[in-house]
Amino acid sequence: MTSDNLADTPPGADGVQAVVLVGGKGTRLRPLTLSAPKPMLPTAGVPFLTHLLSRIREAGIVDVVLGTSFQAHVFAEYYGDGSKLGLNLTYVTETEPLGTGGAIRNVLGELTADTILVFNGDVLGGTDVREVLATHRRSGADVTMHLVSVSDPRAFGCVPTDETGRVTDFLEKTQDPPTDQINAGTYVFRRSVIEEIEAGRPVSVEREVFPKLLADGRHIQAHADHAYWRDMGTPEDFVRGSADLVRGIAPSPALGDRRGESLVHEGAGVGPGAVLIGGTVVGRGAEIGPRARLDGAVIFDGAVVEAGAVVERSIIGFGARLGPRALVRDTVIGDGADVGARCELLRGARVWPGVQLPDNGIRFSTDV
Ligand code: GTP
Repeated sequence: MTSDNLADTPPGADGVQAVVLVGGKGTRLRPLTLSAPKPMLPTAGVPFLTHLLSRIREAGIVDVVLGTSFQAHVFAEYYGDGSKLGLNLTYVTETEPLGTGGAIRNVLGELTADTILVFNGDVLGGTDVREVLATHRRSGADVTMHLVSVSDPRAFGCVPTDETGRVTDFLEKTQDPPTDQINAGTYVFRRSVIEEIEAGRPVSVEREVFPKLLADGRHIQAHADHAYWRDMGTPEDFVRGSADLVRGIAPSPALGDRRGESLVHEGAGVGPGAVLIGGTVVGRGAEIGPRARLDGAVIFDGAVVEAGAVVERSIIGFGARLGPRALVRDTVIGDGADVGARCELLRGARVWPGVQLPDNGIRFSTDV
């Protein structure tokens, strides 16, 4: 993609800089995140972060700072100065992970604008960034927070608001959520609020900065909408988000019209009678054997799925192999692992990189 096929600077984005937090360890996605940071995992053919950066560029924002920590070099090696995406990308790396608030404070030296958009680097979203900025400008808030509604808010930051949309409380991962509105991980900050965050120590924006701003009577405004939204932090969400991108349910300016029941990348082979459905994506150079059945599968580059194997809602890491008639469901297979013929891996199994399981090595049934 080049900057030519995107709108130049739509109203509202002038003088706005964006910060994307990409320094987390991504523990919930292990073992995939042992070798690559979560935002760089391939998602519908490009690193996950490319979807977010393209959305930022589509909103007319060019200056983007990546707050890195874990595996920092990988981002600069891939994106360089950002010009291929029409962006001016800079990087600030923490020597020790500083948490979400500390990471925002740590990039202050790169921020010259008064209005700063901050994104968690693992959210797949369709919200109109310009609308979030417009809400911020209208309300004159110190911070504006994007909110979405989810069926189970307990794993997120629950955010009650008053009738004007002003945030009244911030309850991180509460067991007793008073509303289904949650923090969607996109914020607009006044630069002066970032200056107030204590420098040089780990700070959580969710557990410290937002509660303190509210306790001090400061103005946090909500921008709630019903746009597509998914936190890609767990294997279940990663698989769902990937399938939604492939099928066009999740928007992404990085993908254009390449949408359908499956997406097979160049250099990949698909044998006769293989079935690829449910938003399956097959990476570059991967091989899918005859009569294999892939439903909502995420097959990373160079992986091999042999004849008659079944992969449902699972991620198969770089260069991993599934033997003939293996069954893999709701599972993560690490890079280079080798799963023998007729093995069955179900419900949250995670195979570590390079592990070799012999033929029939793990079964949930007795009819081998
Ligand atoms: P888990 O370990 O699975 O919880 O994932 P995570 O480490 O990514 O944490 P979480 O999903 O809560 O992080 C939300 C966002 O903030 C992600 O985009 C992370 O990359 C980012 N993030 C979390 N901690 C840090 C940090 O210490 N420094 C920086 N720069 N970013 C962080």
